[in-house]
Amino acid sequence: MSWQLALTLDRSATRRPLAGQIRDGIRRAVEEGTLRPGTRLPSSRSLAVDLGVSRSVLVEAYAQLTAEGYLTTRRGSGSRVARPAAPREPARSALLSPPAGGPGPQPDPAVRDLRTGTGVVRSFPHQEWLRCASTVIRGADSVGLGYGPTAGQPALRQVLAGYLGRVRGVRTTGDDVMVTAGFAQGLALLCQVLRARGLEAVAVEDPGHPGEREFIARSGLEVVGIPVDADGLRVDALAASGVRAVLVTPGNQFPLSVPLGDGRRAELLAWAQECDGLVIEDDFDGGFLPAGRRGPALQSLAPDRVVYAGSTSKVLAPALRLGWLAGPSWLVGELEEVRVGWDLGCSGLEQLTLARFLDTGGLDRHLRRLDADLRGRRAVVREALAGLPGVEPVGAREQDGGLQAHLRLPAGAGTADEEALVRAAARRGVLVRGGGHYALDRAGWPPAVVVNYASPTVSALTEGMAVLAELLAHCRADAA
Ligand SMILES: Cc1ncc(COP(=O)(O)O)c(C=O)c1O
Repeated sequence: MSWQLALTLDRSATRRPLAGQIRDGIRRAVEEGTLRPGTRLPSSRSLAVDLGVSRSVLVEAYAQLTAEGYLTTRRGSGSRVARPAAPREPARSALLSPPAGGPGPQPDPAVRDLRTGTGVVRSFPHQEWLRCASTVIRGADSVGLGYGPTAGQPALRQVLAGYLGRVRGVRTTGDDVMVTAGFAQGLALLCQVLRARGLEAVAVEDPGHPGEREFIARSGLEVVGIPVDADGLRVDALAASGVRAVLVTPGNQFPLSVPLGDGRRAELLAWAQECDGLVIEDDFDGGFLPAGRRGPALQSLAPDRVVYAGSTSKVLAPALRLGWLAGPSWLVGELEEVRVGWDLGCSGLEQLTLARFLDTGGLDRHLRRLDADLRGRRAVVREALAGLPGVEPVGAREQDGGLQAHLRLPAGAGTADEEALVRAAARRGVLVRGGGHYALDRAGWPPAVVVNYASPTVSALTEGMAVLAELLAHCRADAA
């Protein structure tokens, strides 16, 4: 292995021998921390060639640094930066020491994390993705390895247009699809376009995704919360707000897990038409809607008024950082203009891998496998709550899809009960979020907990649900 090293030599400094310059350079880099403990250095032979000096100069410099304790040298494995002596144990405060006579109370090591935030990364299709990536990389020529169009690799945009049309009824073409670094970047770009058009605010569902609200606010736009009920976004409240752009999750409201009703869909599109407004459709978990409930995306009803947004984060893995927007041509043009000053597009190789994965049916197969798994998990949630008739697991019922369940606390419970339940669950090693975490207007919201049943292992979910059911039963008794 021919390791490289950043070192400059001043050959005009005749009074400073090269061995000394090399020694000083390495010593300084170790002291400043740019050469970290354990870092492997090039062999004296290869560094001598790189620096154009005789090997004996390097042998002398390495020997000196080893003698000074900067390097360790082992026959056969070369020289490495020495590790500092082990730091001394910090003095223990008497207050933190376990009481005499035995260990003190220990935190539960088995944390069951049921918080929303990740998708189903446990099930990432490693082998199939690897096969697609390998085909793409092996076939990459100078075009594939170069810069692609900022809006995304044409091959992926074409494939996405076809895929979204087939599974979500999205009416678009490759030219009107933009590939982004997740929905997060898509939303940030959209906010810039809206600002450039003179808008000052974006309406969001309340409750909704706190991270999305943050993105909007950071772009300089006001975030206006619009209440949601069992039928989805309250379009009457949206119309009354006077705001002309709205971010919605019509397929499966986040985090209430209810679809936007047909009547509300029509009202929302009429609102957009009337006020020359824009609807941003966040279809983050559209892939997990059950076949019978997978109506076409809202965008299919008004492609000139709705920009459709999707992402690999829930269906595959957030680490891919790939998302897409499908919008009216004028909007995609304006998005491209804003993006020119931002970046030079997403990784071309990842995009082409996704294109191949979609084109060869990889995502269809993956989602079909997950469908059975998620149905089993919803049953785990329902069974845990079966003894609590007042607690309906919206999002985990037979007819539901998505990745999380919204559990309203029993009638009579208040915000303080929600907070107490979340704390009590944490004390027992179950991490869960209260409904208040997602609400903009906390006062308007009945207390609840939101359970991400998709991400934990089945045993963590089963154990976590058992704890929650017990706490909910107490809550019920207290509220009665
Ligand atoms: C409501 C919602 N929309 C969109 C996303 C996807 O965001 P991104 O693609 O930036 O990871 C998430 C992911 O957590 C989400 O919860």
